[in-house]
Amino acid sequence: MNIKERIERLRKEITYHSKRYYENDAPEISDFEYDKMFEELKRLESENPEYYSETSPTQRVGGKALDKFEKVKHEVKMASLTDVFDFDELRAFIRRVKAEVGENTEFSVEPKIDGLSVSLKYENGLLTVGATRGDGTTGEDVTANIKTIRSIPLELNESLNITVRGEVYMPHKSFEKLNKEREETGESLWANPRNAAAGSLRCLDSKETAKRGLDIFVFNYQTGTLEGVNTHKDTIEKINALGFKTIPLLYVGSDEEKIINAVIKLGEDRPSLNFDIDGTVIKVNSLEKRKELGDGTSTPKWAVAYKFPPEQKKTKLLDIVIQVGRTGVLTPNAVLEPVRLAGTSVSRATLHNIDIIKEKDIRIGDTVIVQKAGDIIPEVVGSVKEARTGEELPYNMPDKCPSCGGSLTYDDADDFVDDGEDFTLGALRCTNPSCPAQLERNITHFASKKAMNIEGVGGKLVKALLDNHLIHDASDLYYLNKEDISALERMGEKSAENFINSIEASKQMGLARVIFALGIRHIGEVASGELASKFGTVDALFEADEDSIKEIGDFGEVMAKSVVDFFKKDETRYIIERLKNAGVKTSEEVKELSNELEGLTFVLTGTLENMTRDEAAEMIKARGGKVSSSVSSKTDYVLAGEAAGSKLTKAQALGVKIINKEEFLNLCK
Ligand code: IVH
Repeated sequence: MNIKERIERLRKEITYHSKRYYENDAPEISDFEYDKMFEELKRLESENPEYYSETSPTQRVGGKALDKFEKVKHEVKMASLTDVFDFDELRAFIRRVKAEVGENTEFSVEPKIDGLSVSLKYENGLLTVGATRGDGTTGEDVTANIKTIRSIPLELNESLNITVRGEVYMPHKSFEKLNKEREETGESLWANPRNAAAGSLRCLDSKETAKRGLDIFVFNYQTGTLEGVNTHKDTIEKINALGFKTIPLLYVGSDEEKIINAVIKLGEDRPSLNFDIDGTVIKVNSLEKRKELGDGTSTPKWAVAYKFPPEQKKTKLLDIVIQVGRTGVLTPNAVLEPVRLAGTSVSRATLHNIDIIKEKDIRIGDTVIVQKAGDIIPEVVGSVKEARTGEELPYNMPDKCPSCGGSLTYDDADDFVDDGEDFTLGALRCTNPSCPAQLERNITHFASKKAMNIEGVGGKLVKALLDNHLIHDASDLYYLNKEDISALERMGEKSAENFINSIEASKQMGLARVIFALGIRHIGEVASGELASKFGTVDALFEADEDSIKEIGDFGEVMAKSVVDFFKKDETRYIIERLKNAGVKTSEEVKELSNELEGLTFVLTGTLENMTRDEAAEMIKARGGKVSSSVSSKTDYVLAGEAAGSKLTKAQALGVKIINKEEFLNLCK
């Protein structure tokens, strides 16, 4: 065998064994043997560059990091699905379809994978472009990252021109491994496998993506023709034969009861799957009938997604502990016997406040039902009264702050500001401004991603720094040295160095971030940006009075007072001085807020990340723009977030400019 043949042989073998390992979970050779072949191939390829091949398995380890992703316009729109939330709605869908295209209409039932949608374009059988869905029309070119996913063939079994669509996801095993590593290096943890998958597929460095263990299920083709393919079932079989890992079909047929049963069965199997699903997709099987039914304006008429109610589990409530928040609010948290829920192990859950504990009669020692609200934050739904033994203990809130012993007050109605954060009528609050628990949360907030973005500063590290008297307030972070940090338990040399570099980089974040990081009550991300634009320097803020602050359109009495009170405090002066001396940038270009959007009409639709539509509307109005509820040819901009519906479609039809949150914030600068 000559070198060329040996290289080809290795490529074939590695591709085969990789498929056995990653897709079928049934390896035939040991990892050691596999690695040996891989190393040999790598060596032969580097010694004989003339035999380079873009489809070699060695191409899956990632390449040069990018500065940004290029945009890709999808040839065929990547539509989303209409959701149904109960079986009545699902039955109504089935009946409507049957009434329209025939009683004998077949449906397919398949899992709805909780990941992110991608399109994979093949030219002459070779993978050329992998793109994210983006807004459905335009996505991002993530080809280099896509290539690192082992179950995506770099070359098809036939030399076709075709674009397929599938869902990239992170299997539980990869998710747990990733979060364990992050915990060890003090990085913040991913909340769930979906976010982790999205973040991993959008790494600019594909070598990083390669380490994340992503996977895919392919569920249809977007463009191209496949001979002899008339149904969804045919499609799945055909694309499977081309080399893709395809979505499992759980039932194909026209029997309404069997469709419902397949959905129920998947719900039952959900906890034992090794990936997250958030529902079931029910699709018309015949491609011809799909055409008859049509693709609708925003979602196809031939499919729906049945969304599962949040997964619930029973477990034991071992204890109730109090967490003191950044603004002193005391929140009762449940300490639970660990239980697996929607992809992660849960041992803590919020109990919200004492009224809820009393109303639901939740006692320490109870068997409780937990769920993830919005599938992210675990909460206790209630207790199982029948499981009581009589040993359970009712809970009462402490009458002193458990962290500092300070006295407590109740939030009352006069205190209320509708700023979407941190107010619960009747919530208990610690009144001691130097309460250590508040301090810890404050500093953690200061360093958090949306504030000064100092990597690695989770609650644990802040606590360790405070306990070791290395810091006393947030400004002290800028006076730490590497030796102090690497001496802490579980802090290696490398992590300490990353941490110091990250602190250094955070100095350039600018005034808006600094204001937000300081954690002034009622002043969120948007309000911080507005203060920074109006006042320009932190010194100007020390001088600002309530009236001048209220000139910012959406600032009311309570917010303005909160800012003035905050900058009056000696402690604030002290911290700001220390930040300045450390070289933290505390200025921003002053921008006239009043009229940059004058004469422009906006329509808002969909969900924006970290910003309510009301906040966006306030920002527009504060700058002289108008907000309208319906799209017409007079609309200048449609600001579209996630799951935007008919307004978006109309804007596209009328050719109105559609912008995302980032573009919107740029307009407002
Ligand atoms: S079909 C035109 N099938 O769910 C219909 N989608 O809103 C195309 N998803 O963004 C979608 N599993 O990313 C389909 N088995 C599945 C799916 C699936 C997950 C995602 C998809 C889409 C969203 C639906």
